[in-house]
Amino acid sequence: MTRKIALITGGGDCPGINAFLASTVRRGNSAYNAEFVGVKNAFGGLAADDPEQYLLPLKTEDVIGLENQSSTILESSRFNPFTDANIARGYPQKILNNLDRLGVEGILGTGGNDTILCAQHLANMDFPIVMAPKSIDNDVSGTDVMLGFRTAIYFGAQAARSTADSARAHRRISLVEVMGRHAGWLALEIGVASGADLITIPERPVDLAEYCAEVKRIYRKYSCANLVVAEGTSISYNDPVIVRAKKESEVVRSLLEEAPELDAFGNPKLGGISQILRRILKIELGLEKIEEVRSTDLGFTLRGLTPLADDIILGIRFGIKAADILLGEERSGVMVGIHGLEIKDVPFEQALKPKIVNRPDKELEALGVFISSAYRSS
Ligand code: F6P
Repeated sequence: MTRKIALITGGGDCPGINAFLASTVRRGNSAYNAEFVGVKNAFGGLAADDPEQYLLPLKTEDVIGLENQSSTILESSRFNPFTDANIARGYPQKILNNLDRLGVEGILGTGGNDTILCAQHLANMDFPIVMAPKSIDNDVSGTDVMLGFRTAIYFGAQAARSTADSARAHRRISLVEVMGRHAGWLALEIGVASGADLITIPERPVDLAEYCAEVKRIYRKYSCANLVVAEGTSISYNDPVIVRAKKESEVVRSLLEEAPELDAFGNPKLGGISQILRRILKIELGLEKIEEVRSTDLGFTLRGLTPLADDIILGIRFGIKAADILLGEERSGVMVGIHGLEIKDVPFEQALKPKIVNRPDKELEALGVFISSAYRSS
């Protein structure tokens, strides 16, 4: 009998997701004669009153040319059916009822840590589900690399180098902010690949007086600087440099007052630290004009990129493996990942262990990561 499988793509979009979708459909159709239906908005669509409105049936002929398309044709959402409030509202059971109503017997999906956590809850309710990791943050364990990361690094590094080259011509400081939430992988690799003078990552809190002194030294010496900053860079609101900046700059005051909102999984909505740092550098370096420090937020420009071959191949390999596990081996509760040259799978529990930058200080410093003396561990 033909089995019907739902496809979902949750969390932040990124390059390579469509390659995964195309690959699961091809593999599932040809090797297992399975039927596929995309469910738009991930858990948002699955939990809807009218789930039929979110469906996109997918056959092999529908996915021709899909592999190299950006973002996700299934759209995305950060809806979390497993918050205490949503459990009380009955959403987990509603999802199971909807899947039954749609005749769906299993799910294949892509996600980051939050979507994989939801998948784990569903697997614990005995619903068959297999996931593939995606996020430009690269912050999930159980895989060397997540879908989207390689493409984001490649274009992010080009963009950061471009701003640095321009800053050199104009004798300026270039500040480039990148996403990554609580993990510094994206900032680290974009920084290294773009020849950054200083990289700040969330894993190493920044003493702003030391940071500004270092930028000043670089700027005096070279008349320009290439600074890459992770959106989650940790600065203390009690840092004397912040206290001074709040007194001197109304913009800093209002930016700091804008406390970040939380998403449905309790993650702060980050972004904007380079705007604060830009003003702090002007004050601390005694610069005449704010234009001497230009900031660029790469943010979402790295999310909707057309995937490089690396991510297309990874998406295709993840798709084949995920379909084989769910439809061939009839296993569930696992995430596929790449380990060296091999595609393997790990239980969700293992995938969900946080993966942050954990290299020794000396190695990070040699790569250009800024490490404040108070926080130096080796
Ligand atoms: O998780 C991926 C990510 O791109 C983070 O780096 C960033 O902080 C967040 O998503 C932004 O989320 P949203 O798309 O919900 O604004």
